[in-house]
Amino acid sequence: MCATTVDVAVPWPFTCPRSTADDRRHVLHPLTGGDQPARGDDPNPFVAYGQRLAWWAFARANGMTDAACTALAHDVAGGFAVTPFAPDATLSAELGADVWVKDETGNVGGSHKGRHLVGILLHLLAAEALRVAPGPRRPLAIASCGNAAIAAATLAARVDWPLEVYVPDWADAGVRTVLTSLGASVTACPRLPNDPPGDPAVLRCREAVDAGAVPFSVQGPENALCLDGGRTIGWEMADATELDRVVVQVGGGAFATCTGWGLGSRVRLDAVQTEGCAPLARAWAAAAGLDPRTTATRWAELMTPWADPHSVADGILDDETYDWLGVFDVLRDGGGRPIVVPEDVVVRAGELAASTGIRASATGTAGLAGLLVPDGAPRPVERVAVVFSGVAR
Ligand SMILES: Cc1ncc(COP(=O)(O)O)c(C=O)c1O
Ligand SMILES: [Zn+2]
Repeated sequence: MCATTVDVAVPWPFTCPRSTADDRRHVLHPLTGGDQPARGDDPNPFVAYGQRLAWWAFARANGMTDAACTALAHDVAGGFAVTPFAPDATLSAELGADVWVKDETGNVGGSHKGRHLVGILLHLLAAEALRVAPGPRRPLAIASCGNAAIAAATLAARVDWPLEVYVPDWADAGVRTVLTSLGASVTACPRLPNDPPGDPAVLRCREAVDAGAVPFSVQGPENALCLDGGRTIGWEMADATELDRVVVQVGGGAFATCTGWGLGSRVRLDAVQTEGCAPLARAWAAAAGLDPRTTATRWAELMTPWADPHSVADGILDDETYDWLGVFDVLRDGGGRPIVVPEDVVVRAGELAASTGIRASATGTAGLAGLLVPDGAPRPVERVAVVFSGVAR
């Protein structure tokens, strides 16, 4: 973050105006903190918390009525409902604390990812309806072969908006079939001879965006609007009960960032990474002792790619924590920290999670591993929550 601000009324504020192809180390953040409008009375979080969302403020600033915003949210974000969140007796007994589980496995697309993406879609459709979109409709583009791609394809199909999905050439054939059946155009991306380091699917997706596609991304630096709707999960948890601590798994970091912003600074948030891929924890250690106000200016030095990411929690193998500034923000705000867990504990967390009856993936239960290591073990009186963020496929 270079301290550049963009007015909420501006259409398509995907990236920081100072972000360039040579220096992508920029991200826009929504305004957070301060007094929030009260939760509205609607089972759909994108309506109930609508007035807290940036897409809604954008639409209002450009002349859309609250009633029209509500109708658009019901339409585009139909099917989103406050997800189950309850104390779990087995986990509480096992850990000797009051352990709550937020279950995202039944959410749209089978994970929390749709929350990030539907906020982008709401902004795009509001801009169209208000005739303030800077250009004609362009295809959406995403690089992913997992939950984000499936959520993206599910949502794009709903509003009949073309979607290009860029996947690594080793991507699971089953996922490719699901994406194609949802109407997405899927491109397998082998590494090309002149490719710079990094995921070739990400490179091809960026080329598509440079050629005019809309970044339908779950990473803040690619599209800041994904950091808007993701906050609903934290708001839902904060409104359900008074929590001491929330422990979540971190890949690209948008999930932890949004959860933390939604929870607010009264709740401590800890960020779990695996021993096989812990760029956030490494950056946190490197930043110890530095003035927090200068962290953002040291992006290239502090957030560096992890050389050989590996874990059974394969959804959090992002070699860089793209939204590390957001995660740092919420860790500092609530007094939390990164927790690095060994692989055998990730596996044990998955087994323990199965006892809840929720069918979550290894990625989806990786946060629980943070409660199973001494570094993150709950105190007896503590009310602590984990998020089972994605279904087992
Ligand atoms: C089920 C699930 N949980 C958590 C994450 C991590 O989210 P983030 O990459 O925003 O840190 C992912 C990312 O792919 C995921 O699929
Ligand atoms: Zn910037």
